[in-house]
Amino acid sequence: MKIDIDRLNRELDELAAFSDVPPPAVTRVAFSDQDLRAREWLKSLCTAANLDTREDAAGNTFARWRGTEPHAPAIGTGSHIDAIPHSGRYDGTVGVLGGLEAIRALQGSGFEPRRSLELLLFTSEEPTRFGIGCLGSRLMAGTLSPVIDESLKDENGRALREIRTNAGFSGTLQSVKLSPDYYNGFVELHIEQGPLLERRGIPIGAVTAIAAPASLRIDIRGQGGHAGAVLMPDRHDAFLAAAEIALALESAAKSTGAIDSVATTGICDLFPRAINSIPSKVHLEADIRDIDGARRDAVLSRLEEACTEIARKRGVTIATDFINCDAPATSDPRIVKAIAESAAKSGLGCDSMVSRAYHDSLFMSRICPAAMIFIPCKDGLSHRPDEYASPEAIAAGTLVLAETLALLSRS
Ligand code: GLV
Ligand code: MN
Ligand code: MN
Repeated sequence: MKIDIDRLNRELDELAAFSDVPPPAVTRVAFSDQDLRAREWLKSLCTAANLDTREDAAGNTFARWRGTEPHAPAIGTGSHIDAIPHSGRYDGTVGVLGGLEAIRALQGSGFEPRRSLELLLFTSEEPTRFGIGCLGSRLMAGTLSPVIDESLKDENGRALREIRTNAGFSGTLQSVKLSPDYYNGFVELHIEQGPLLERRGIPIGAVTAIAAPASLRIDIRGQGGHAGAVLMPDRHDAFLAAAEIALALESAAKSTGAIDSVATTGICDLFPRAINSIPSKVHLEADIRDIDGARRDAVLSRLEEACTEIARKRGVTIATDFINCDAPATSDPRIVKAIAESAAKSGLGCDSMVSRAYHDSLFMSRICPAAMIFIPCKDGLSHRPDEYASPEAIAAGTLVLAETLALLSRS
């Protein structure tokens, strides 16, 4: 089987050019003009590869290579093309264009799929626009209430329904849910976004589990006032409470002693945001993850206790509210085995590993057997403009994906 790495690299470059910022950075927010243009371009590549394309009401895009048993549950592969602000060109895109290249390589080798093979582009894996990640795959798995159509809003106050219908994706969100026998298996190719494969010199990771993500909004209300006139003992500074909360969250994550417990306070909005005014309101958003769901929940409980204590000590109010709080995923052993066998057949070393990042596979695993293939990325860097995966690494991952799809399609 021949992976055309020059074509794949060229397409990764072309996709990176659909961006709101100059290269090497990429910003491609879900349903932005650049995202919609990139989707059209991708669909034209799928059509050129003789795949049948369709889109659902959430804008998830499917491109199917019909198998000899077209009614048998299909095998899916794919990822996302939305990119967080000022990020890189490989996160998600390698799984979409690598998935397409794997299908083209199988077509070129004369392979005939028994089960149909279907490429997927998931809508809004990144939380940038609507505050919640994996929007498309959550809807496919039926884990979100349809009320989000009106309640999920972007920062300009536009609801998901308005945005998706303006982008040409109509129909109800209920219709996005897939039936349990739609897929027989799902496999996603992705850069590791961490350093382990590169450090170990291993080209392929077979992902056995995905960490449980939770994210929280934390709203602090204190008392504003004049930065010169209000005496220090009289203050109820909302930002200082927020700073203590961020530090308490760091301690809570570290206190488990487990390398897999991680927590980040990535959003901090101050009001009124003036240098000579004491912050009266702060909005924080924090991301907490662990491969062990119970241990993640213990970190959340410690944070809650810390918030109660900080509110009392500083005379502020603190309200917390979950954006999401998901269970971890365990990969399907049959698919993990197919990945390991495909790597061995291709003469490539393969290690089992966990994913600390979340992916659409987290939700696909709720509705069908799923697993992921990881490839190394330079210095483990991701979500930054200098994110990099070498052509050799991408070609190796795409080859293993193609072999895995072939095995699953025959099963
Ligand atoms: C996905 O981008 C994540 O934040 O894990
Ligand atoms: Mn990402
Ligand atoms: Mn990703």
